[in-house]
Amino acid sequence: MTEIMTHLSSARLTLRRWRETDAETLYRYASYPDVGNPAGWPPHTSVEMSLEVIRAVFSAPHTFAVALKSTDEAVGCCGVVPSEISCEKGIPRDDVEIGYWLGKPYWGQGFIPEAVELLTGYIENQLGHKRLWITFFDGNHKSKRVAEKCGFKYHHTANQNDCKELCYVRD
Ligand SMILES: CC(C)(COP(=O)(O)OP(=O)(O)OC[C@H]1O[C@@H](n2cnc3c(N)ncnc32)[C@H](O)[C@@H]1OP(=O)(O)O)[C@@H](O)C(=O)NCCC(=O)NCCS
Repeated sequence: MTEIMTHLSSARLTLRRWRETDAETLYRYASYPDVGNPAGWPPHTSVEMSLEVIRAVFSAPHTFAVALKSTDEAVGCCGVVPSEISCEKGIPRDDVEIGYWLGKPYWGQGFIPEAVELLTGYIENQLGHKRLWITFFDGNHKSKRVAEKCGFKYHHTANQNDCKELCYVRD
């Protein structure tokens, strides 16, 4: 997929590319264990680690900072999961899985459902219609609620490395 969009906005949020200057903010929010662990990545342990993640991981196509419109602060992340990772969970290669996380101080205000609607609109309108997926570890009630509120329905459970991942789909 080629990168088409660099900026999208809703009432409260902007989805934009990550910048190296976001490293300190990223470290602040990504160092919480209860953000990284449920999302399947290790909590950040230094600003340098966060900078490396911005350079090596968040530079991938269709990966966006979830920034507050009022301050432009990057308080979370959402984007398209690499297809090789999605395929391991039984998701067809032509479909698109989206992933997300949000800094803990901002939980519970509907920010990620708002970001998901922006991202899914972008995928459907700019990249051509794709069947969309959200997956999460069994027991991640918060992510399950995001999927449900955004109109995704349970499809199957993938068993990976002794973990059950629930796969939700939206046609
Ligand atoms: C999952 C996550 C992205 C949700 O983002 P969000 O913007 O807070 O989403 P919502 O505001 O819609 O809240 C979703 C649910 O989280 C729960 N929740 C909200 N605030 C909470 C809080 N402070 N503490 C615990 N749970 C909370 C509620 O069950 C809520 O559902 P409800 O609206 O039916 O009450 C966020 O909790 C997060 O980043 N969690 C850690 C990383 C993660 O799990 N990422 C997804 C991996 S698949």
